Amino acid sequence: MNKPTVVTCGLPYTNGLCHLGHLRTYIPGDFYVRYLRRLGEDIVFVCGSDNHGTPIVVSAEAEKVSPREISERYHKHFDEVFKAMGVRFDRFGMTDDETNHKRTDAILSKLIEKGYVYEQVIQQSYCPKCGRFLPDRYVEGTCPYCGKHARGDECDQGCGRHLEPGEILDPQCATCGTKAELREQKHYYFKLSAFRDYLLEYLPSLQGTINARNYAIGWVENELKDWCITRMMDWGVRFPGTDDLVCYVWVDAPIGYISFTEEWAKEHNDSWKKYWCEGDRVHFIGSDIIYHHCVFWPAMLHGAGYQPPTAVVASGMVTIEGEKFSKSRGYVVWTKEDYLDKGLPADYLRYYLLDYTSHTRELDFSWKEFQARINNELVNTFGNFANRSMTLVKNKLGHVPSVAVEEEIFAEIKKSLALIEENVRAYEFKAAVDNILLLAGYGNSYISNSAPWKLLKEDVPAAEQVLKNCLQIVKACALVIQPVMPESAQKLWEMLGYTDLIENHPISDALVPFENNELGEVKPLFPRIDDKQREELEATLAKRCEEAKAKAEGKNMTEQPVIEPISEEIVTIDDVAKLDLRVGEVIKAEKVPKTEKLLRLQVDIGSEVRQIVSSIALEYTPEEMVGKKIIVIVNLKPAKFRGEESNGMLFAAGEEASLLIPLRDVPNGTKVH
Ligand code: 2FM
Ligand code: ZN
Repeated sequence: MNKPTVVTCGLPYTNGLCHLGHLRTYIPGDFYVRYLRRLGEDIVFVCGSDNHGTPIVVSAEAEKVSPREISERYHKHFDEVFKAMGVRFDRFGMTDDETNHKRTDAILSKLIEKGYVYEQVIQQSYCPKCGRFLPDRYVEGTCPYCGKHARGDECDQGCGRHLEPGEILDPQCATCGTKAELREQKHYYFKLSAFRDYLLEYLPSLQGTINARNYAIGWVENELKDWCITRMMDWGVRFPGTDDLVCYVWVDAPIGYISFTEEWAKEHNDSWKKYWCEGDRVHFIGSDIIYHHCVFWPAMLHGAGYQPPTAVVASGMVTIEGEKFSKSRGYVVWTKEDYLDKGLPADYLRYYLLDYTSHTRELDFSWKEFQARINNELVNTFGNFANRSMTLVKNKLGHVPSVAVEEEIFAEIKKSLALIEENVRAYEFKAAVDNILLLAGYGNSYISNSAPWKLLKEDVPAAEQVLKNCLQIVKACALVIQPVMPESAQKLWEMLGYTDLIENHPISDALVPFENNELGEVKPLFPRIDDKQREELEATLAKRCEEAKAKAEGKNMTEQPVIEPISEEIVTIDDVAKLDLRVGEVIKAEKVPKTEKLLRLQVDIGSEVRQIVSSIALEYTPEEMVGKKIIVIVNLKPAKFRGEESNGMLFAAGEEASLLIPLRDVPNGTKVH
């Protein structure tokens, strides 16, 4: 028996519906919990919805409802879909509920008390048109690390990095498209850099999947920047001691894991500390949020005097028919609309997601493959073996044989149980499910080779022995497949003549001799997915992609150039006089390695040569730039992009970055006025 364990799954944001990509985390998490519980482990399984952060405020604003209202709506949706998919959390809470506000406040207060939080004035993007600061998803621009288009706090279309406030290049307001200004704002930082040694010592012992551990070690070895943990907005958990700041969503979201355990414990008169202070903590997440769970979260927990995660299990991403998941391009399969509402069994999708490929690899979903796996593996192997065995007993033999099951059968089951358990504990879910199917495969070969239908005519006692052995294998198969396919396993259990719940039986009952004198009603366990049904499912997806394409093309055809609104901010002559603008000549230009958009220019401004980094590499080649006379602001504070210092800024107009140049030739360093 291991320690009490809390298992969590990443919290879904409450601004969108549940799709197949989500399930890649929840189904394996649920399988793991179900299997280990039936091995006798003490586990509490918690999750909840992630209600804070700008994406939710942006969606709520678009719908003209409050962030709480939109959160409650999507919370209910996820709760219902998870239940329908057989994902059974002991507690599915909300990060906006009181327990989480209190726990977050307690953890932050502890970090502040221990000196891990400091104040800093930073340059934050501000939209002059909307008249507000632009935290996270309110701002768009260019990733300073890879040069790809990035949104807010994350380079979601490029290198996937977390972006700190003020880091995004060429910021513009995501709501109205206006070029953002930089304005000073006071924020609070968490001294993440102080945890480098701690993390380097802790991470090698972190269990779970190897991708989580290795990525995290790589990041910590490279660079660990302090982390801005406040945002100026109303929606969120109030930052202690302030009245205009809330904490960054990635602070209070993982704290939800603790709060939901507290809520569960309160309801069940149990102790949350048993799990968070003494036991093991296992987090199931998508591989896009490894950094948050393996770097921020353990540092925060350690700093506040809590135990860090024992294991982080990170799943690979999901693609649809070979395409990257994309709502705007139509490459999405909605769990409710496209699957459950079509009457497809939750168990089939659970099986497919667990057995398609190993947990850390990319999973490509296609209806064709889905149909093939269900029909070839579940129907033909598992279902066929169970059905043949029970039908022969019930309809041909007419009674359950009283003869004892042979030892070699128990030996085979025992071997399977050991392999399955080993793989579950190693987070090798595909291998575990393969071992379950192999046991059914063994049964299938055994019944085919022994041919009890023939023996029934020639040697009834021999037929009885074979069929009793088969019933034992079917019983074992039902018990081990239950965490994968709970509903089907219960049906099979009842066909075997049991009247209680299979989930209340330990896995080890697979080695208890089959004891029933009569079978229940025997029916085919798994209906086939026929071609017509598959074609309909494919057509729905194809239609959605076509519609999305037409919409995108239509939009392009009618698209007019967007004239940005004139800024309402009034600038005085004195403000303008502060800018020192000069004519400069580019004498050298190179691409910044490993970026798409950045050029490093050496610019002769008369009195000296300045290095300026600019994101114009998609519009100009280095060769084109050399010899160009441009306008440069020379009294700008130096900034760093991808580690390259930039001492000035050039001017360019519009999307094509059309350079501002002097019409007549003037010497380098000439002042612009
Ligand atoms: O990436 C996401 O979808 C986040 N809502 C996951 C949060 S998990 C945890 F840390 F709370
Ligand atoms: Zn990037």
